[in-house]
Amino acid sequence: MTLQIVRPGNGVAPLLRAENVSLEYGSTRATHDVSFDVYRGDRFVLLGPSGCGKSSLLKAVAGFVQPQAGSIRINGESVRGPGPDRMVVFQEFDQLPPWKSVLENVMFPLLMTKQVSRHAAVERAMHWIVKVGLGGFEHAHPHTLSGGMKQRVAIARALAMQPQVLLMDEPFAALDALTRRKMQEELGRLWEELRFTLLFVTHSIEEALVVGNRILLLSPHPGQVRAELNSHQFDLVSAGSAEFQAATQRIHGLLFGEPVAPTQAGAHAERVERRIMDTRVRGNDTP
Ligand SMILES: Nc1ncnc2c1ncn2[C@@H]1O[C@H](COP(=O)(O)OP(=O)(O)OP(=O)(O)O)[C@@H](O)[C@H]1O
Ligand SMILES: [Mg+2]
Repeated sequence: MTLQIVRPGNGVAPLLRAENVSLEYGSTRATHDVSFDVYRGDRFVLLGPSGCGKSSLLKAVAGFVQPQAGSIRINGESVRGPGPDRMVVFQEFDQLPPWKSVLENVMFPLLMTKQVSRHAAVERAMHWIVKVGLGGFEHAHPHTLSGGMKQRVAIARALAMQPQVLLMDEPFAALDALTRRKMQEELGRLWEELRFTLLFVTHSIEEALVVGNRILLLSPHPGQVRAELNSHQFDLVSAGSAEFQAATQRIHGLLFGEPVAPTQAGAHAERVERRIMDTRVRGNDTP
């Protein structure tokens, strides 16, 4: 399977723009001056070591935390709080209320936001339950499902809302290796079909290369932008290739010490030290 990059043409405005975002918890600075643009149809990955502020950035985009400095805009509008245009899938299996069936879980946000009638919510929820491969399990309760199945429910619940951007925080990190691989494959398949916009957090270099078409590399605590990479040429099939291994090592070097030269890269270049690197076509197709 080849995942084609959706590359915006000149002058296309980003769907999501984070500009000079600094996040703090009391005296703890989680991220410092982080900027990135996500375009419609991107599979944009935030990659960095534990504690670098990936989840904090995702929560800021979701509207759960407010930046101390900088701004986050969706379609030019400042994010002021959570909204149905930004649905989140978390790592934890307990993100599904256990007293609700699969169907009720997927319907819940649709009903809460009064997007559709109850009848239409059932129809739409069933559509997504089938799409994530859980047809026949709609009346099951979460405790009877495997970890992978619970994550599928969370994905169906999020996509049923047709969000502007799907936010995923290490959604497959608690799964065994085989299930994780299968879920990565299915996410790719869903994206091929639906071309939704994805903001995906991981600390796995391999997962970032497989899932993403663009990767923002964050330095250790407090997270700052270290590099932005294009990774659209990689997928699960190419995961064992020499090129994939070389990209993995390159990213490892960038994360753990290789010096990074600042480059001019778009509107934030003066303010953000950022190295734009494409492991194949260096700098050619970066927006
Ligand atoms: N609610 C909170 N209260 C206080 N400090 C917090 C809170 N959430 C995160 N932090 C701190 O902010 C920093 C960034 O945390 P964050 O969870 O965003 O990192 P992360 O990159 O997602 O890490 P991991 O890969 O381990 O999930 C850490 O130093 C963390 O201790
Ligand atoms: Mg995290």
